[in-house]
Amino acid sequence: MVKISTSILSIKDNIIEKIKILNTTNTDYIHYDIMDGSFVSNTSFSFEEIKELNKYVTKPLDIHLMVQDPKSYIHFYKSMNPEYITIHYEIDNLEANIKLIKNNNIKVGVSIKPNTDIEKIYKLLDKIDLVLIMSVEPGFGGQTFIENSLDKIKKLKEYINNHNLNTVIEVDGGINDITAKSCIRMGVDILVSGSYITNSDNYQDKIELLKKV
Ligand code: DX5
Ligand code: ZN
Repeated sequence: MVKISTSILSIKDNIIEKIKILNTTNTDYIHYDIMDGSFVSNTSFSFEEIKELNKYVTKPLDIHLMVQDPKSYIHFYKSMNPEYITIHYEIDNLEANIKLIKNNNIKVGVSIKPNTDIEKIYKLLDKIDLVLIMSVEPGFGGQTFIENSLDKIKKLKEYINNHNLNTVIEVDGGINDITAKSCIRMGVDILVSGSYITNSDNYQDKIELLKKV
């Protein structure tokens, strides 16, 4: 069954209370969207904010680093024992940062932006655990799903199957019950969803809906 990673980026107020609610749901992961104001124009949580929030999180962590130079972030986040740390294909020093995450015994994800071809990631697949396909331009929650992401999921899934790989496919941006259905049909393993879940008044219902579409 598809797994759900809930992004807390779009939670506006009472974030600690809302994290406590998420702990009681069937979300498989909590997704931290971390931005540096350089790789993407926006910024999000500071180290201090995450340190405080993370005291309350009981779910496994799925960390999405939208930053140009991940090294210091990897050193900070490794202490939280995350399940995944995902960095972007489009940064400098990609391979060195993949090694750094691996050397800390954390599963490595590599994300591609909407305009990056899926074929570019193939040569990395034996070195990484997860590919995160961005289905919106990274930087903001609440955007509309970009349809050509479906084609990327499909191609990647075929490549993974044909080469007997175990790489996990995750999709992020504009996921709701309708777009989730299409992504699942193409073979996605993990759906990241933010506003669809956290703008609702019943997180568990939305998570179950995504799992069952
Ligand atoms: C965008 C982030 C996403 C985003 C998802 O830069 O990587 O994780 O918060 O939010 P929704 O589900 O609202 O598109
Ligand atoms: Zn994300």
